[in-house]
Amino acid sequence: MNNVALRCQGVTVSYGALKAVNDVSHEFQAGRVYGLIGPNGAGKTTLLNVLAGRQMRHSGQVYCGGQEISIRPAYERARMGIGRSFQIIKIFGDMTVTENLLIAAQSRRPGFQPFWISRHFDKQFREQLESILELTGLTNYRNDIAGTLPYGLQRSLELGVTLLPDPKILLLDEPLAGIGHHEIEAALQLIKKVSQGRTVLLIEHNMEAVMSLSSEIVVMSNGSIIACGAPEDIKKNEAVRSIYLGEDAE
Ligand SMILES: Nc1ncnc2c1ncn2[C@@H]1O[C@H](COP(=O)(O)OP(=O)(O)O)[C@@H](O)[C@H]1O
Ligand SMILES: [Mg+2]
Repeated sequence: MNNVALRCQGVTVSYGALKAVNDVSHEFQAGRVYGLIGPNGAGKTTLLNVLAGRQMRHSGQVYCGGQEISIRPAYERARMGIGRSFQIIKIFGDMTVTENLLIAAQSRRPGFQPFWISRHFDKQFREQLESILELTGLTNYRNDIAGTLPYGLQRSLELGVTLLPDPKILLLDEPLAGIGHHEIEAALQLIKKVSQGRTVLLIEHNMEAVMSLSSEIVVMSNGSIIACGAPEDIKKNEAVRSIYLGEDAE
C-alpha cells in the first residue's frame, strides 16, 4: 500500500464535450513496469501528460509517493523524479550526441553560463555522461550529428536524455514507434535494462513487446480504464480482444 510510486484518483481531462480521460483511478507500484495499451484516441498520451504535469487535469488528483502533485508544474515533477519521453522524437538533430546530453543537463541546472565550460563540469557529471553513453550504446557515436544516426539510435539518445537526471519514474510514450524491425530487439533490451529499479509506464502498440516488458497491463478505451492485470490474463480478456478486433487487428 505504501509502496505506491504514482497514483491517480478520479482524473478527468475534457476537450469541449470530449472526455479524453474520464474518471481514471489507478495505483502504480514502485519498481514495476506498467504497459498502457488501447486503441488510438483512447486517452493514453493525455493520461501520461497529466502524470508528467504537461497537461492539467480538470478534476481528480495525482499523487507521487504520498504527496499530492495535481497542480505542480512539469519541472517540479521532474525534480521529484518523474521522467518523460515523447511519441514524437525530441532531440536536436543538428547537434552531436554529446551536445544533446550536455544541453539536457544544462537545462536542468540553474545559471546561464554553460556549466561544461565552468568549474562545475565536474568529475561526477563526466562519469554520468559516460555511463549514459555506454548504457544507450552510443559511446562510439558520441561525436556524430544526432540527426544522421539510424532512427533506433536517435530513440536511444532520446531515452538517454530522459535518463540523465536519473528519474525513479519513467513515462515512455511509444518508445518503439518508427523503429525498423532489425533495430527492435536492441531497443527492447535497452528498455528492459533501464526499467530495472524504476517504476515505468509504457505506452506501446507493439503487443508482443509490451506484453514481454510489462508486469501489469492497463487497458484504456474512450478515456477509461476498461481492464488491468497480468499480461497473460489481458491476452485472454474478451472485452480487450473485442476492442482490438474492432480496430486494425494485427
Ligand atoms: N489538445 C487537444 N485538443 C483537443 N482534443 C484532444 C487534444 N489532445 C488530445 N485530444 C483528443 O483526446 C483523445 C485522446 O487522445 P490521446 O490521449 O492522444 O489518445 P492516445 O494517446 O490513446 O491515442 C482523442 O480523441 C484526441 O483527439
Ligand atoms: Mg498517444
